[in-house]
Amino acid sequence: MADGHLYDLHVSSKEETWEQQRWKNVDCGGELNQDCQAEPEQDNQEQSSHFDVSVWNSTSVRNGRKAELFPEWHLPLTVASVLALIVFVYTVAREVLQPFFMNNKNEFYRIPVLVVNKVLPVISIILLSLAYMPGIFAAFFQLYRGTKYQRFPAWLNTWMLRRKQFGLLCFFFAVMHALFSLSYPMRRSYRYKLLNWAYQQVKQQKENAWVEHDVWRMEIYVCLGILALAILSILAIASIPSVSNLLSWREFQFIQSKLGYTALLLSTLHALVFAWNKWVDVNQFIWNTPPTFMISVLLPIIVLLCKAILLLPCLDKRIQNIRSGCEPTKGTQNKCVHL
Ligand code: HEM
Repeated sequence: MADGHLYDLHVSSKEETWEQQRWKNVDCGGELNQDCQAEPEQDNQEQSSHFDVSVWNSTSVRNGRKAELFPEWHLPLTVASVLALIVFVYTVAREVLQPFFMNNKNEFYRIPVLVVNKVLPVISIILLSLAYMPGIFAAFFQLYRGTKYQRFPAWLNTWMLRRKQFGLLCFFFAVMHALFSLSYPMRRSYRYKLLNWAYQQVKQQKENAWVEHDVWRMEIYVCLGILALAILSILAIASIPSVSNLLSWREFQFIQSKLGYTALLLSTLHALVFAWNKWVDVNQFIWNTPPTFMISVLLPIIVLLCKAILLLPCLDKRIQNIRSGCEPTKGTQNKCVHL
């Protein structure tokens, strides 16, 4: 199966060694295209989960340099920060500056909660896609080369090794998004708006404010969001080494791959249902720019489509063969190489 894993790296041959070598201790030095959590020892000396702090200190002193702070988080944090900044500026321009300059409306109150709560889910869903994308690339590489015994390019290798961090950051942003969303009715601005809507309704002599399709839209997208967050929580818990060490390879693979893709699917549906009929509303294009929900679902849809393609029986079978060491050779039947 052409799987990608959210919180750890994938390769089917790992199954064989799962019980003997827990993934935290795997040494990938001799393996090609091996998904492994552990970095080469040199780089990882300060990060390893030793219990004796004095060992860390002496190692640092011996190397004559300070232990780097969270080195494996540098790339995911940089990507998340840059994306967050871009989406923040983009949303402020659309939702605050546009009404200010065009209609002289003061909407600056939106920045702390409403604008931030556009940035958080967009970054969360993009990070979730970025956690699964390298698995897709890896599968296509292996399909193209017809073997798993060739190294991936360095950029893909690095990306593969950061999937856990991308996934955990996605979870962090999703939790923040859920908290911000749940705070909506508590805000004073919301209460004033509600009162104003009620007043307008009385003025228009409308007795019932119920809009059936809007009710359904909200019930469905909130439900999908909660389900997605619940699954992401399971993935995050399963990524804790003391928990993952208790799981068999199949259990671990099921959680990180199957449940992970389910979370990605539910999150995408959540955003799509949230948008509902706004997809065909031209007013959403403020200053000729697309709304954030359109931008946010782009990458997840690409990842999910690629995954669907890889799940086609003809490709899935080929990848399984490649990953189990059975490689098709020209003019002959499949030749299995078990190392
Ligand atoms: C308890 C769980 C969740 C709740 C209650 C929730 C609630 C909401 C709400 C109220 C909105 C509308 C935001 C606005 O327009 O101001 C929204 C939009 C969105 N949510 Fe969630 N959500 C949850 C989980 C998630 C998760 C897990 C993800 C993805 C990882 C996600 C991704 C999105 C996206 C992409 C949007 C569209 C944002 C935009 O561009 O306008 N949500 N959600």
